[in-house]
Amino acid sequence: MPDYQHILSETHGRVGLVRFNRPKALNALNSVLMEEMFMALEAFDRDAEIGCLVVTGSERAFAAGADITEMAEASAVDMLLRDNGARWDRLRRLKKPLIAAVSGFCLGGGCELAMGCDMIVASESARFGQPEINLGVIPGAGGTQRLTRAVGKPLAMEMILNARFLTAEEAARFGLVNRVAPVETYLEEALALAQAIAARAPLAVRLAKEAVNNAFETYLADGLADERRAFYFLFSTEDQKEGMRAFVEKRPARWTGS
Ligand code: HXC
Repeated sequence: MPDYQHILSETHGRVGLVRFNRPKALNALNSVLMEEMFMALEAFDRDAEIGCLVVTGSERAFAAGADITEMAEASAVDMLLRDNGARWDRLRRLKKPLIAAVSGFCLGGGCELAMGCDMIVASESARFGQPEINLGVIPGAGGTQRLTRAVGKPLAMEMILNARFLTAEEAARFGLVNRVAPVETYLEEALALAQAIAARAPLAVRLAKEAVNNAFETYLADGLADERRAFYFLFSTEDQKEGMRAFVEKRPARWTGS
């Protein structure tokens, strides 16, 4: 396992967990942390023993945004040449489901990162916001698009144009998060959800993730056609035979991912 500076990488059974570990800066996402996070997530994504990924911060902060000190004095040309935004595309290339376990501040790039995950489990103390307007900029890693799709235009406008934060309860009500748990147990709940998904038929999980993501990225007719092809394809897998036979024989299925 590489010697990381700003993250911790752990396995819990078939779940790969990445924890941000930059507490003094409220886990602000500097380029080292981002690079380390992707290295760790991609290593789990390649590991056949891992079925689901979780990313988390601390109780006080999931992440308070991109690191402002890293970009405060940058010119537009600096930003273009660094193109840190391109790194974010790696999130969409992960094949295994990724759950964000969010507590405390989840702001700016932190909120964009959580929304780029497949599911969010929030603690009661979680606060979601896109306060870039306070810095004279706008979200730059998907916030205007993903937040609008998740909570609708009026609320997204208020959050992005006027830096409104959402409580965990509001985030659940508006469909931004899957569930809210006490601060003491939110990570456990996220890990339990991840364990449950990791115990399922791996090829079906992989194609299911792809198919759901298609709903945001293609026209309906293309998404429906892709879904149907994936559904038919799964009939070439051992897991489909095993899953349906196990149902008929009234016994639990034993998945092999083949
Ligand atoms: C760098 C940060 C930081 C950030 C907090 N810190 N957020 N450092 N980048 N985004 C540092 C503070 O400077 C401080 O360091 C320490 O963390 C603790 O923060 P405080 O402000 O003292 O804590 P508190 O008073 O509790 O306020 C918490 C807070 C506030 C409300 C979260 O820190 C805040 O507003 N942070 C900025 C949030 C933000 O604007 N995020 C969007 C960033 S832009 P010291 O050394 O003083 O102790 C973005 C664009 C994404 O994300 C684009 C992606 C491509």
